[in-house]
Amino acid sequence: MTQSKQLNINPALPVPEKEALLQSKKLLQRIKDVIEEQDGAIGFDQYMSMVLYEPGLGYYSGGSRKFGADGDFVTAPELSSLFSQCLAFQCAQVLVELNSSSILELGAGTGVMARDLMLELEKLALLPEAYFILEVSADLKQRQQELLNESIPHLVDRVVWLDSLPENKFTGLILANEILDALVVKRFKKVSGGFKELKIGLKEDNLFWTEDDADGELGNRLKQLEKELSYSLPENYISEININTKKWLSGLEASLQRGVMLFIDYGYSAADYYHPDRSDGSLLCHYRHHVHSDPFFYPGLQDITTSVNFTDVAECADSLGLHVQGYTNQAYFLFGCGLEKLLTDIASLDIKSHTEITQQVRKLTMPEEMGERFKVIALTKDLEPGLIGFSIMDQRNRL
Ligand SMILES: C[S@@+](CC[C@H](N)C(=O)[O-])C[C@H]1O[C@@H](n2cnc3c(N)ncnc32)[C@H](O)[C@@H]1O
Repeated sequence: MTQSKQLNINPALPVPEKEALLQSKKLLQRIKDVIEEQDGAIGFDQYMSMVLYEPGLGYYSGGSRKFGADGDFVTAPELSSLFSQCLAFQCAQVLVELNSSSILELGAGTGVMARDLMLELEKLALLPEAYFILEVSADLKQRQQELLNESIPHLVDRVVWLDSLPENKFTGLILANEILDALVVKRFKKVSGGFKELKIGLKEDNLFWTEDDADGELGNRLKQLEKELSYSLPENYISEININTKKWLSGLEASLQRGVMLFIDYGYSAADYYHPDRSDGSLLCHYRHHVHSDPFFYPGLQDITTSVNFTDVAECADSLGLHVQGYTNQAYFLFGCGLEKLLTDIASLDIKSHTEITQQVRKLTMPEEMGERFKVIALTKDLEPGLIGFSIMDQRNRL
């Protein structure tokens, strides 16, 4: 095992409140204890799991603000109801096809997508039997309950919060917006003649990147990856890999009797993800609307994400017997679902509302905003018809 670059607290980022600092210190101590217990280093996947999900202290399991102007980032459903309204049109097409069906949303954030989706489906007289929310964060679950109780009291009895996937198979849709990017990954580096796993070690009370041989499953997966890419990654190339996609998907597959999974997230095909020019991976940290790449900055107080390898998602789905029904970018998906229809009346709006909506559409669909970087993939089980979201452009040939 060798030690490499040390990362310190970035002085350009805002300093957290006292209470948050104390919480981060506690988590850091726990991480240090685990590193010591494990002979001096832990994989990045274990580190990511602790900083995001350590009970009571992790980013998603603690009480930090996360969303909105005073949080760390803004997601598409937070940005505009138009996003969830379009998604509702896609759900409606599936709900018409399937009798007595439900929706399961993974990681519902503040609950806005659930609210806007249900309101649109109510207008279409196509409400699901149940709207399940699987949320790992107790704090977000409480925020979702408050929002939905307040904003859609007449629909809230359909909402069922789950701590794990439903025990009984259900028919319907599984929706996940910006969930796959939060799943833990391993980090690796190409070296002469092989790969190293980038781990996190401890020296004089500081977290360090360290290198260890990439063996076992990781080593095999990286060898396989290079074969599939049909080129050798350059020396010192660093990137990430999720070696648990299939396991994660198989849990979802097992809970779906019939229907569709729709995943929306930022990411690429494998060829773009592991393009030789993308030589430092896609690891990003979000803290109070600052984006940076230092995962050691106040553990537990910032979001840590990586882009999604959609080729991997498609291949794992295929091996589980799911059908990859469509893949496209967010802009084509929203227009395919009927975004234009939602905009027919905007000319009659006052100038302020008109400008607001125009800006929202811009952010959701322009290539330099979310339109191109965010992708949508649909995986179906025993469901024949093509989906409207992929009717304008289906890019499965890019996977
Ligand atoms: C970036 S937020 C996205 C929230 C919401 N979907 C949105 O678009 O605003 C990630 C969400 O996923 C949840 N989450 C993280 N890991 C999860 C997992 N393995 N299963 C289900 N939810 C998860 C978090 O608690 C949080 O609600």
